[in-house]
Amino acid sequence: MTAITATNLTKRYGATVAVQDLTFEVLPGRVTGFLGPNGAGKSTTMRMILGLDRPTSGSVKIDGRSYAELRRPLNKIGALLDAKAVHGGRTAHNHLLALAQSNGISAKRVTEVLDIVGLTEVAGRRIGGFSLGMGQRLGIAAAMLGDPEILIFDEPVNGLDPEGILWVRTFMRKLAAEGRTVFVSSHLMSEMAQTADHLIVIGKGQLIADAEVGEFIGLSSQGYVRVGSPQLSQLAPLLGGEAVLHGDHLRVTGVTAAEVGETAARAGLVLHELTFVQPTLEAAYMELTKGSVEYEAVAA
Ligand SMILES: Nc1ncnc2c1ncn2[C@@H]1O[C@H](COP(=O)(O)OP(=O)(O)OP(=O)(O)O)[C@@H](O)[C@H]1O
Ligand SMILES: [Mg+2]
Repeated sequence: MTAITATNLTKRYGATVAVQDLTFEVLPGRVTGFLGPNGAGKSTTMRMILGLDRPTSGSVKIDGRSYAELRRPLNKIGALLDAKAVHGGRTAHNHLLALAQSNGISAKRVTEVLDIVGLTEVAGRRIGGFSLGMGQRLGIAAAMLGDPEILIFDEPVNGLDPEGILWVRTFMRKLAAEGRTVFVSSHLMSEMAQTADHLIVIGKGQLIADAEVGEFIGLSSQGYVRVGSPQLSQLAPLLGGEAVLHGDHLRVTGVTAAEVGETAARAGLVLHELTFVQPTLEAAYMELTKGSVEYEAVAA
């Protein structure tokens, strides 16, 4: 079953093409990371999923229906788009209660979601006095109100402290393990590497990659074989590919670890280390989105 299906989704604002012909699926039971440089069209795509913005052409469906066609939307899909878009004068409890009441959700569920996000103790405080992290937690509580199968989070760890980041990561993993669909945007690559199973990467509104995290990293050419040997100077010229000395070991690109091992064995040379070093998600992302960065700083 597909939770979210975008088909040729396109959004123009005047002359600006925010989202261009995007086709992808977001599946349940896993965390799907939504990546792309500033202005790539991530928030616009999420707003269209939630019916907050109309596609110029194409469509996006939730279990086959548009958001407007959902009978009880909050029970189907919950979202945190902008944690600051709340009434600061209300208490956390009243904010959630108002949302619950207008959507046929019980007051008991408000208590539950406050507990889930760890805001029970400050439930009676005005939101205006909340820290960034407390605001994010409140936004997640609101998204969880209808106990939805599908959750959308736009940069949920933005501004959170390390404890908060760890909490959000664990929470998303748990939601996916429960079989829910989790679609989350972020600019924190090391965090996404630990949180997401699958990635949808866009640039300038267009699809760059739709792949599992490992598969996406595999698209990068930044990986290398790290070779340690007391006979490096004899080994290096025998290796195909490019070998560069880094400290006491070689970094070899263009060959597999197996090929290096076999070359060494044939020449009767000793190996102390032979490891394929994968690029980080950050390195892969930087390489693969290079042509799609809209707002690039010029190096001093
Ligand atoms: N309401 C709007 N009116 C005009 N242009 C808009 C509007 N909303 C978004 N855009 C434009 O659409 C493009 C995509 O913006 P969007 O906010 O979707 O990007 P994003 O991927 O979420 O970026 P970020 O990582 O900075 O949050 C940008 O060029 C932006 O300026
Ligand atoms: Mg955005």
